[in-house]
Formats: sequence, structure tokens, C-alpha cells
Amino acid sequence: MAVPPEVLERIKKLREEINYHNYRYYVLDSPVISDEEYDALMHELKELEEKYPETITPDSPTQRVGAPPSDKFRTVPHHVPMLSLDDAFTPEEIREFDQRVKKFLEIDHDIEYTLEPKMDGLAVELVYEKGVFVLGSTRGDGYNGEDVTNNLRTIPSIPLKLLSMHEPVPDLLEARGEVYMEKEAFKRLNEEREKQGLPTFANPRNAAAGSLRQLDPKVTASRPLNIFCYGVGRVEGRDFKTQWEILQTLKKWGLRVNPLIKKVTGIEKAIKYHEYLASIRQELNYEIDGMVIKVNEVELQNRLGTKARSPRWAIAYKFEAAQSVTRIIDIILSVGRTGAVTPVAIMEPVRVGGVTIRRATLHNEDEIKRKDIRIGDWVIVRRAGDVIPEVVKPLKERRTGKEKPFVMPKYCPVCGSPLVKKPGEAIYRCPNPECFPRLSKKIAHFVSKPAMDIEGLGPKVVEQLITAGIIRDIPDLYKIKKEDLLSLEGFAEKSAQNLLEAIERSKKTTLPRFIFALGIRHVGEVTAQVLAKHFKSLENLMKASLDDLEAIPGIGPEVAQSIYQWFQDKKNQELIRSLLEAGVTIEPMETEKRLPLEGKSFVFTGGLKSMKRSEAKKLVMSLGGEVQSTVGKNTDFVVVGENPGSKLQKARQLGIKTIGEDEFLEMVGMKK
Ligand code: IVH
Repeated sequence: MAVPPEVLERIKKLREEINYHNYRYYVLDSPVISDEEYDALMHELKELEEKYPETITPDSPTQRVGAPPSDKFRTVPHHVPMLSLDDAFTPEEIREFDQRVKKFLEIDHDIEYTLEPKMDGLAVELVYEKGVFVLGSTRGDGYNGEDVTNNLRTIPSIPLKLLSMHEPVPDLLEARGEVYMEKEAFKRLNEEREKQGLPTFANPRNAAAGSLRQLDPKVTASRPLNIFCYGVGRVEGRDFKTQWEILQTLKKWGLRVNPLIKKVTGIEKAIKYHEYLASIRQELNYEIDGMVIKVNEVELQNRLGTKARSPRWAIAYKFEAAQSVTRIIDIILSVGRTGAVTPVAIMEPVRVGGVTIRRATLHNEDEIKRKDIRIGDWVIVRRAGDVIPEVVKPLKERRTGKEKPFVMPKYCPVCGSPLVKKPGEAIYRCPNPECFPRLSKKIAHFVSKPAMDIEGLGPKVVEQLITAGIIRDIPDLYKIKKEDLLSLEGFAEKSAQNLLEAIERSKKTTLPRFIFALGIRHVGEVTAQVLAKHFKSLENLMKASLDDLEAIPGIGPEVAQSIYQWFQDKKNQELIRSLLEAGVTIEPMETEKRLPLEGKSFVFTGGLKSMKRSEAKKLVMSLGGEVQSTVGKNTDFVVVGENPGSKLQKARQLGIKTIGEDEFLEMVGMKK
């Protein structure tokens, strides 16, 4: 049965009208007919198409849903790569971008920029041949995406046919835009899913991505998706001079463009507009995560060109997110000053609220179980009260099955004591009263002024670092990152930087400082000096036998024993190894020729056979020693010659070492 010409005419008219009303509704946001009138037009068209199925064309507004489910998406190439954008977060970074652009172009006048809200959804490409939507794909890796044409067709604001009433349609148009889900729609979808016991989406972006990548277009059709277009790939049959012109023309063709786009001259105006967008962001019914700044003139864009993955002519000026998504690499324990043992998530670094974080408290074991947080999980993290980062929830839909549940260790990670938990309490504690204070004192001693001398690292900061799980032993000091410090109360960019520099400086140290810093029992600053002078190097000291140590003047048996045992302990050897590995270097001891009798005092009594008393005195002094006339507590040696006097008795009374002539000659190197 041939289709009567008046029917064909009516069908054509209905389609045009419906497309126009779609444009009024979706693009201009100003419908000129009621929903009922619109529905009536659609109804009439459907009836006619049912009666004359041969009239149905794929670009008919009735043909949005209907394609059968597929078993996988075909890969399609992007003829012009879909690049990403460099990120910036501060006005300074944006000014630097502007400077770079000017320098590259060798111009010094203000540049014209287009400013566009940066939609937080997923990028797609829509291909129109002679105005008809023929192919739609995801961004994929930028070079190849997935063919999601049938799903994109179900999005009511994507025209199946471009409008030609304002502008002739080009032979070929590859339009690019961001598919997203409105905040309200996202909330409703999640509520519904919750009721049905289905996993909820973490954010509108994930919901949009999940909805677009459905194999059954019917499912996509049931999800309220929308689009804003922001650019083009290949275009045949139309030239554009500016980005602004592109945006305006896309709109005329019936593609949805964000109404908040703006054109400015000079970067300061761009920075102002970013402030404005940030201020209205909450009121928008869709999520934006920043503003895209693009050099307006296409010719300048071409001159600027692109780098490997992003153009030189555009930048994403992002907002600081209060929460972000990252992955948990590990869960460790931190011990607090009250002995409370807290699990801490170690995460891939992520920017939240203006700082990069890599750890977040998980509070306690029950909390981890309640939120079902596993090692390997993708999680939402938030900076609560703007200080301590915390894990909001895991993204269960991103699990691969390789995630590991957390098992609370039974022993204290610092001192090894079995942990205890009081009935009714959620927190495990280390019952060893020595544990936290001992650790914090040990570390505070190591960093103190006469030891490694790390400026700005007092006992309070040491405690903060331990409590936050950032350090658990001395070598961890050299692994501290800026973001660790920024997550602590009282630290800002500058103070964090200063402390990191002080830690770096402390790596270059001297042997006496290093020995003292180790905190060996009975080894104070003076003993550390004596040991350093005696052994000259750390290796020598580490190799010293108990006898070697006991033989050092001024080091008693108890001290020698303590030093010896310390260096025998495997854990201490490991500590030294890690410190050296972390980059600690010890300046070599000065090998200046010390005089052999320096610091030693002598008293002579009785006559010497080999030399006169006056010669002996000169000899002692020339070797750096001191000659006293009377025996006192600070006398080191009394040299006893023939017919000694009362000085010998005095020496015996005071317990001063006495030596004979032979021994004296040996000391001054005159007898072997
Ligand atoms: S332009 C060569 N404009 O941001 C320019 N992108 O990191 C490339 N996006 O993949 C993109 N709103 O998904 C551009 N107004 C906008 C945008 C926008 C959101 C997304 C898009 C892109 C990503 C770049």
C-alpha cells in the first residue's frame, strides 16, 4: 500500500515540529508548548508510523529506544584524538598558564578566552552525517572509544537530526560533549536502588558512566541522562574562527550547550568568573568540578598545538574537592599516647580540600567492619572538619574480588605486647605503659638538638606523627612526605616545607652526634665524643669487642657492656642500616694529629735514672701533657722514681695510677 502524499507530508511536519520543540525545551530551556501538546504530537506521529511502518527512519523522534541489547560494544576510532586537559587549582597556576600562552605566541596583549563550566560526567563524541545522528562513542583512551550509539539515542536532549532552520547543517559533524546525570535524578536513582537492595552509585558521574555503558539500551533509557556539548572533532562543510562561534553554532544545530559559558579578555576576568562559578556551584542541578579556560581563536589554538595528551591552548581550573576517590593500598596500626591502637588507611595520594592526602583514620575495627572497608578498595575520602581525612565509604561496584578484608592484629605494632579490648569498648589498647612514651622519647631524643638536630621537630610533633601513624620508628622520619605533615593540625605549606628541609639537612651529621642520637644506655654526649674519637668510624665502633671498649680510658665496665650489647642486637644493626640507607651520612672524624699526652696530667716523685726532672717535664709538655707539682684528684699519673717522697703515699690514698720510669719512657715513646 503506497503511502498517501498528505500522510508523508504530515509525518515530515510532525517530525520537524517535535525536533523544534525538543530544541526549545532542551537547548533553549524555553518551551513554547505544554507537555500535553508535545505528547499529542508524539502520539500522532507514532500512530502514523505504526500504520505506515515503511516511513520509519532512524532519525525519527520516535526511534530513541528499540535497538536490541548487544553483548559487547564495538570499538570505534576518534579521527581527531579526544584529549584531556591539564589541571590547575590556584590563581597563580592560571596566571602561569596565561604567561605560557603569551610567551609561546610571542604576544603581550590580553588574550581572549572562552570560559566553560567543567562538567563532571563522561565525554562522548556524536557523529552527524548530513545532519543525521549516525554514531556515538565514549572517549575511551582518547584514540579509540566504544560504540554506544544506541544508548546515546535514548538521551532525549541528543538530537537524532540536527536543526537547519538557523544554520545549514554540515556534511559531517563530530560534536563532543559531556554526558551527565542531574543531582536530583541521581538521588532518586540511588533511593530506588537502595529499596531494591542494589548497590548505589558513589556520585552522579559514576551513575552516568554506569548508565551509558549498559548493554541494553532500555536500561539506559530508564536512566535520566543529559548532555552539554563543548567542542568538535572533524567538521566538513563549515569553518569556525573561534571556540565561541563553535559553541553558538552547536546550539543553533540543536545541540545542548551550557548556558554559563562566557567570553572574556584577559586572565584576571577568567579568575573572577571561576570565583563566581564556585559560589553558585551548589545551586546548580548538575555537578561541575571546575572551569575550562580555552584560547578563543582557532588560529591561535592551532599555533599553540598540543602536547602528548593535552592541548596547550586550554586548561581545567578545578575546584578544590571536599571529597575525592582513591584506593586503599594498606591498613596499618598507629599507637596513640593512651595506648589506643587505631587502624589507618594508606592510600594512593589524592587531592582533597586543597591538599594531597595519603592516609586516613579508620577509627577502629568495628567501624571498618560496619563500612566494609577492604584493602584494595576504591573509597571516597573526605577531610572532616578540614583536618583529619576520613574514609566515607568503599565503592563496592568497583571491586574485583582481589580486595582483602582487614584482620585486626593481636599484638602491638610498636612493642609487641598482646593488645587488649575492654568489654563494650571498640578500641584495642596496648597495655604496656612504656610503649608509646618510650617510643616517643626515643624518637624525640634522636631528633633533639645535641643529637640529629632536626629543627621544628619537638616532642609534641613527634607525638602527633606517631599518633597519626606517620612514623612508627626512627627511620620513618626520613620517609615523611609533605602531605603527611599537611594532614596534621598546626601544619601549613610553609611549616611543612621547613620541617622537611630540616629533616633533609639532618642527614648530614657527625659521628659523635650520631652515636649520641642512638640513645644507647649510659652513652651521653661526652661518652659519644670519647667513642667517636677513639673509633673514628661507625664501622669500627660496631666491630669493637667488649675488651676494646673496656680498654678506653674513661669508659667503665658497665658502660662498655651496655655499648657492646647494643651493637650486638640485630634490631639495632637493622636500625643503623635503615638510617644509612635513608641517606644519613656521617662526616669522617678529623684525623688531625692529636698529641699523645693531651689531657693527661703527671706528677713526678723521686729521681729518674735516664734524665733530669726538668727534661722529663719538658718532654711531657711537648707531648701535650701537663705536669703538676702536687697530687690531686685530677692527677692522671704519678711517675715514681728512686727514693720517692710523700707524693707516692698521697697517690695511693687517692687511688691515682702510679707508673715506674720504664712505663713512663714507654708512654713518651722513648722505649719500645
Ligand atoms: S574540552 C582538548 N570542555 O574534561 C579539550 N572538556 O580532562 C578537551 N570536560 O575529557 C576537552 N567539561 O570529559 C572540555 N567544557 C569542557 C568540558 C570538558 C568537561 C571533560 C571532558 C574531558 C575532560 C578533560
